[in-house]
Amino acid sequence: MPMIRETIVSTVDQAGRVHLAPIGIVAEGDGWIVAPFHPSTTLDNLRSTPFAVANFTDDVRVFAGCLTGRRQWPTTPCDEFIVPRFASALAHAELAVTHVTEDAQRPRFHCRVLRTVMHAPFKGFNRAQAAVVEAAILVSRLGMLPREKVEREISYLEIAISKTASAAEEEAWSWLMEAVRKFYAATER
Ligand SMILES: Cc1cc2nc3c(=O)[nH]c(=O)nc-3n(C[C@H](O)[C@H](O)[C@H](O)COP(=O)(O)O)c2cc1C
Repeated sequence: MPMIRETIVSTVDQAGRVHLAPIGIVAEGDGWIVAPFHPSTTLDNLRSTPFAVANFTDDVRVFAGCLTGRRQWPTTPCDEFIVPRFASALAHAELAVTHVTEDAQRPRFHCRVLRTVMHAPFKGFNRAQAAVVEAAILVSRLGMLPREKVEREISYLEIAISKTASAAEEEAWSWLMEAVRKFYAATER
């Protein structure tokens, strides 16, 4: 299996409006594959403007926020690149689509890295951050996963939250748990 990095991908629409989405980008040699599901804004944007930024961040509130309707995260322009980046990224890679492998459900945009820029140091692993990313993936698949599996995995991930989270991870976790509660409350009605 190829290596995947969980990033925040920024893209722009034809009017230049920036869109951020958590996307697992897939390693391919020196480049990356961005594979957005159909339908999605990221997919539409990559079709009209075939450039993206992969933002590497340890602020897991952006992952949880984008999945729970909190999309207004600060962005800043890149030097000489059409797509802005997430303002608090630790590093970012500027990507140009070289070709597309078409697929009705999930086309694959093969990207070349034009430039990688560092902004702040990586401060080490934090289990709560990893737990939020895992829970965000569960939340993005609530309609597809059995409830028992979701609840079992959440109760395991919660251990890392209670032992190692800072305020940012606690906030991100609370948004995700609210989304889980709302989803099951709606399906029980
Ligand atoms: C860690 C993580 C990785 C994800 N990776 C992908 C991905 O590779 N492709 C995808 O379509 N959605 C992925 N998702 C779900 C998208 O972030 C979510 O569906 C998002 O809203 C994309 O749609 P949009 O471009 O319309 O915002 C991922 C979610 C998380 C939390």
